[in-house]
Amino acid sequence: MRKQRLVVFSGAGVSAESGLRTFRDADGLWEQYPIEEVATPEAWQRDPRKVLHFYDLRRAQVLAALPNAAHRAIADLEEWFEVDVVTQNIDDLHERAGSSRVMHLHGEITLARSTVDPTFVTPVNGPSLRWGDRCPLGSQLRPHIVWFGEPVPMIEAAAERIAKADLLVVVGTSLQVYPAAGLVHYLHPAAALHLVDPMDPPSGMARARHWKQKASAGMPALASHLISALSDR
Ligand code: OAD
Repeated sequence: MRKQRLVVFSGAGVSAESGLRTFRDADGLWEQYPIEEVATPEAWQRDPRKVLHFYDLRRAQVLAALPNAAHRAIADLEEWFEVDVVTQNIDDLHERAGSSRVMHLHGEITLARSTVDPTFVTPVNGPSLRWGDRCPLGSQLRPHIVWFGEPVPMIEAAAERIAKADLLVVVGTSLQVYPAAGLVHYLHPAAALHLVDPMDPPSGMARARHWKQKASAGMPALASHLISALSDR
């Protein structure tokens, strides 16, 4: 029998218990750093050093963070399911926990890219990407992040994966940012839908089975449930 296709669609909440702040919870990142000052192309034009500094702080925290029980439970599901992780997160904690197929919708903090040739992407060595760090064509390197107002290059590939999924697990996202938030609508009506989040479900998730817990508890519980349901098939 073929393995069932399971997509995990994750957001900042899955990394919260690894010490990485979410964006919109109380004390979220966007409260301290307004989006228009650090996460738009206009912010980069106006004050690139400020933008670099904001992402340097994020990178330093990611490098110091470790995957938690939720990332590990997701990675372990690969033994039982064909798993794709579609994440809005820019950290690499899914990969470090052992997930082998991870699609980063909003970019990756450990990478930089050229400002004249978007195909030139290079690792950032250490926590800092500096003003004056240049690509081979001589342009300033920018964080490899999708800013507000920019297209999301992976969105179609992600929609395809979700459309083919037998199960979708949505974990730790407020589903407030489009086009990513619209991905859940690609799920086939007959496919199973689970939500892991300690808060009430956002609109559009009414049919989901809600595991109203933090990810480090809810994700292992859901994984056990999914694995034991396999033996009933
Ligand atoms: P948000 O900060 O909008 O939402 C975080 C979600 O995680 C909320 O639903 C919380 O209830 C939930 N949460 C908090 N702690 C949790 C925990 N321990 N376990 C499980 N869930 C928990 O973050 P995202 O939805 O990821 O984009 O935000 C989406 C995008 O908006 C981000 O990728 C980023 C941001 O602006 C860009 O920067 C382009």
